[in-house]
Amino acid sequence: MSSSSSNQMWGGRFANAPDAIMEAINASIGFDKRLAAQDIAGSRAHAAMLAAQGIITDSDAGAIREGLLTVLSEIEGGTFEFSTKLEDIHMNVESRLKEVIGDPAGRLHTGRSRNDQVATDFRLWVRDQLDMADASLTALMRALLAQAEAGADWVMPGFTHLQTAQPVTWGHHMLAYVEMFGRDRDRVRDARRRMNESPLGAAALAGTGFPIDRHMTAEALGFDRPMANSLDAVSSRDFALEFLSVASISAMHLSRLAEELVIWSSAQFRFVALSDRFSTGSSIMPQKKNPDAAELIRAKIGRIFGANVALMMVMKGLPLAYSKDMQEDKEQVFDAADNWLLALAAMEGMVGDMEANVPALKSAAAHGFSTATDLADWLVRETGLPFRDAHHVTGALVAKAEAKGCDLPDLSLEEMRAVHESIDETVFDVLGVHNSVASRTSFGGTAPVRVREQVARWKEALA
Ligand code: ARG
Repeated sequence: MSSSSSNQMWGGRFANAPDAIMEAINASIGFDKRLAAQDIAGSRAHAAMLAAQGIITDSDAGAIREGLLTVLSEIEGGTFEFSTKLEDIHMNVESRLKEVIGDPAGRLHTGRSRNDQVATDFRLWVRDQLDMADASLTALMRALLAQAEAGADWVMPGFTHLQTAQPVTWGHHMLAYVEMFGRDRDRVRDARRRMNESPLGAAALAGTGFPIDRHMTAEALGFDRPMANSLDAVSSRDFALEFLSVASISAMHLSRLAEELVIWSSAQFRFVALSDRFSTGSSIMPQKKNPDAAELIRAKIGRIFGANVALMMVMKGLPLAYSKDMQEDKEQVFDAADNWLLALAAMEGMVGDMEANVPALKSAAAHGFSTATDLADWLVRETGLPFRDAHHVTGALVAKAEAKGCDLPDLSLEEMRAVHESIDETVFDVLGVHNSVASRTSFGGTAPVRVREQVARWKEALA
């Protein structure tokens, strides 16, 4: 006989209630209440299936399904009283259902367990997040694409080692990120496809003797099929780890773009102006406009990748099947999902609003001997010098310009011919930054003609 102070869901063999500390370490309702909608959707599908299979009556299933909607509206309306005594969302919902509809509520848990229930709820929740991330990534790609289209031929310095390397186009730089976020979106879709199988009906770990129809519940919940192995169904969290891995890689891309915005918006660079909507001021320095959103986006990778590592550590070494350790999966995933989606939205806003400083980009592109490679290529093409020798001659010309305190195009023809006598005035055609970028027409290159092709391709892909 269960004591009145022991748990009403599983108190049958317990004489005493748990210690307060036990309750505190055991309860997950403080966070897994976020699974309420998924939990109720899963239970409604399960009840309909139990009735269709003749395991419970249609009238009990009808009462359960209606009652669950009442519980859902209480939760959504904020009137539901969550109880830590009832541990988690599953028992909170079922207990309230009992209060609302009475005895039929006791038949809902036939042929299932909280182990397959939580695995189902969590998959549904993660699937929703993947869909939201897909939409957010698409929106961010569109914002980058609009920048790329506007500035397909704006010249800016391209960097390696953050040292001026060769001129590139603004559009090309923006499209580099479209490619990265496009791969992130592919990873999101791939993860969704792999995780979209239903654990429901795996029961505690071994399946059930009730004649349930797992294909029916899988279909009702939008899964592609039921998971094929009941032990795997209740034990696996690789779907959550894959979510965190995908989020981590994407957050890494966000962090790199954020870092560039921090650098570009500084007074030293002035490559972009960030909008007031996505900047903050300083309480002491009136001149300041800080790129706080970019800095926070840059930092988000820390907690997202941290969640990935944390859950990997939780899961390593767990014997099959379910262990309570796995309750630690949710907070990590919730936090990572919230912050990834927030960072994506903030980046979309910043990119959409930012204004490139076209003259500053162009003047920076012309500094730092950015067309030295063009000069070396010209020597190869026009004078027949081997590239290694051309590299050497160009190096000498750079040293000369550096000593004079000017850029390559500022050297006179005489000064150039003193270094190599076959240089003629046509060399000046390749020393300008516009000619430099226009010449880089190889597939995937920075020439405006290639950039416009890629813009057109992406516009079609994102239409
Ligand atoms: N709150 C639990 C979790 O998040 C639900 C499953 C509990 N199952 C059990 N056998 N104790 O994992």
